[in-house]
Amino acid sequence: MNTIIAANWKMNKTTAEAKAFAETFTGLLAKKGVPGGRSCMIFPSALSLDVLNSALAASPVVLGAQNFYPAESGAFTGELSLAQLSDVGAKWVLIGHSERRHILNEDFDCVARKTAFAFEKGLGIMLCVGETLAEREAGSLRTVLTGQIETALRGLSVGASDHARLAVAYEPVWAIGTGKVATEKEIAEAHGMVKEILASFSPSLDDLPVLYGGSVKPANATGILAIPNVNGLLIGGASLAADSFYQILQA
Ligand code: 13P
Repeated sequence: MNTIIAANWKMNKTTAEAKAFAETFTGLLAKKGVPGGRSCMIFPSALSLDVLNSALAASPVVLGAQNFYPAESGAFTGELSLAQLSDVGAKWVLIGHSERRHILNEDFDCVARKTAFAFEKGLGIMLCVGETLAEREAGSLRTVLTGQIETALRGLSVGASDHARLAVAYEPVWAIGTGKVATEKEIAEAHGMVKEILASFSPSLDDLPVLYGGSVKPANATGILAIPNVNGLLIGGASLAADSFYQILQA
């Protein structure tokens, strides 16, 4: 299983800024590429996918979409389909990010429909899970993670060949964009739980990569990657500058 280093740009960068990032990033990759055993992904704004798909075509960087609507096409004003996103280079999708759950009110049913649709269409799925501070303080971590994982994966018939296109990102909501990183003990405990929940859901799923996200920076990336059951990083703020994302990729 490759360690996945993934950038989630959220609602940042114009196409010109995305292009400038790609120029700097490919320049850096020319010195020292993606390290062996690692995969590099970027989830930019949908508007920058086309530009990045061209600019990063010669690199091993995999592109993904932050959002989509789970239907083929039709009367869904303002939404984007998987066919449209695949057309401009998206190979993976983020589903269940806490900002979509908490700000855009995506509920369990929405997450489940998106997961089933993307799975059927053959895209890679990065399922994001994580508890709020109130849920953690109430001692509900396992219940929250179990609910988020089981409702998303229910109904999928996952074969061994699908493992390369499924990943879970554990992102404690209280650590996202706050500068507050979970402790080593908290990360180890939550990642162990995610692996147990996956295994009890289906024994063959305990080998899915589980990424950590929440205030990851070049200064803490190496330490977090050394924690048991951490199989990658999903980075927001520190992925916006090519040099800091490159440093994390090399960490
Ligand atoms: P930050 O790295 O900015 O905390 O964001 C994490 C995140 O939400 C990635 O999906």
